Amino acid sequence: MWITKLAWLLLLATAASATAVKVLSNLTTILADGSTSLAFSLYQNLAKDKSVENILISPVVVASSLGLLALGGKGSTASQAKSILSAAKVKDEQLHSGLTELLTEVSDPKTRNVTWKISNRLYGPSSVTFVDGFIKSSKAHYKCDHSKLNVSDKKSAVKSINEWATKSTEGRLHEVTKDVETDGAMIINAMFFKPHWNEQFHHKMVDDRGFLVSGSHTISLQMMHRTGLFDFYNDEANKLYILSMPLAHKLSSVVFIMPYHVEPLERLEKILSRKQLDTWMEKMKPTAVAVSLPKVSMEVSHSLQKPLQELGLTEAVDKSKADLSNISGKKDLYLSNVFHVTAFELDTDGNEIDSSIFGTDKLKNPKLFYADHPFIFLVKDQKTKSVLFIGRMVRPKGEKLRDEL
Ligand SMILES: *[C@@H]1O[C@H](CO)[C@@H](O)[C@H](O)[C@H]1NC(C)=O
Ligand SMILES: *[C@@H]1O[C@H](CO)[C@@H](O)[C@H](O)[C@H]1NC(C)=O
Ligand SMILES: *[C@@H]1O[C@H](CO)[C@@H](O)[C@H](O)[C@H]1NC(C)=O
Ligand SMILES: *[C@@H]1O[C@H](CO)[C@@H](O)[C@H](O)[C@H]1NC(C)=O
Repeated sequence: MWITKLAWLLLLATAASATAVKVLSNLTTILADGSTSLAFSLYQNLAKDKSVENILISPVVVASSLGLLALGGKGSTASQAKSILSAAKVKDEQLHSGLTELLTEVSDPKTRNVTWKISNRLYGPSSVTFVDGFIKSSKAHYKCDHSKLNVSDKKSAVKSINEWATKSTEGRLHEVTKDVETDGAMIINAMFFKPHWNEQFHHKMVDDRGFLVSGSHTISLQMMHRTGLFDFYNDEANKLYILSMPLAHKLSSVVFIMPYHVEPLERLEKILSRKQLDTWMEKMKPTAVAVSLPKVSMEVSHSLQKPLQELGLTEAVDKSKADLSNISGKKDLYLSNVFHVTAFELDTDGNEIDSSIFGTDKLKNPKLFYADHPFIFLVKDQKTKSVLFIGRMVRPKGEKLRDEL
């Protein structure tokens, strides 16, 4: 009798583990690691540019665009793309299937409740023919679609790019760019991302507040509030708070890094690195925290052409050296633009709150985390250890509240 029971239990356990946890390939882990290094180098590169205010990039999506270049390129055009991913030694076929697996895993709406709509498009001049094999494999690996532009009509090119981005994000994105180079290949990532909290903010706990862009400039917006037990660290030496809030099923989390008071983020950016983040993560402890976050959407467009060039992608962007002949069958293409555009919506949505800790000692004397001034944030994936987003909120959307002298 007990043998049958045991057999049943074993059978059930095997069935459960087969459906619940998909084991990732070794290679996907390596690529996720490469994307984390890319996160910090790209962030720092963008932060150098004084005209850039908000920053928002998805390193895993940039990684897939580099994979696309490796697919379409030959020789050093392709190998430079792989090097930036720290994947110089990875075989091509493995690179493409590893990146496909990584992105499919982290953007799966079923297991993660996430709203993450990613549209990738490759544009080329109408004079160029895209090779069938490239069209097929870039669709299969990178969900990339393809389109042609009239080289001599920039105005309508810009218009059709912006319209495509708006349509593919269900109206969340309004503008990718005001200008393009139409004579080459152009990669565009258009995304809409909305985190789904592991435990929701109550939609009634939202009110009108102000966000201090600087000491003398306030923007009016809504803030959402909630008290809970979160990983938290008060870095007294650097006068910063670090807070990590889990997203659905704790498969990923949003990590906020915020100075105590309103100040330009340069001081924090000087110490921000992959190693520093690891140090902070190790020091975090479950803490009662009263969290207030802006309930806003950010719409950020970056041209990554120059940053990627500075990180080592020098051949693809050079008309005389680029070899993208796996795309067109000829050495007649160079990479003229890379646009990376995201609408990011911070909202109250999430799974049910476990209210059993309310009114207990665990939530006594909560620390305050009041995000009403510029901060840096990352969406970190627990399962793959990749960085889904890295960015900074410096100037959220909203009306100017007041300007003091
Ligand atoms: C991944 O594979 C490499 C080479 O096959 C091996 O050296 C390494 O230990 C593996 N890593 C993990 C995490 O399994
Ligand atoms: C979240 O995902 C789980 C499955 O992982 C599903 O059962 C649940 O309905 C989802 N909840 C929401 C609010 O989307
Ligand atoms: C491309 O644009 C130019 C300038 O607007 C126009 O004269 C030409 O007819 C267009 N070509 C095509 C194929 O639409
Ligand atoms: C790219 O070109 C190389 C060399 O001609 C070829 O071996 C390879 O199969 C091509 N890749 C694709 C995806 O067409």
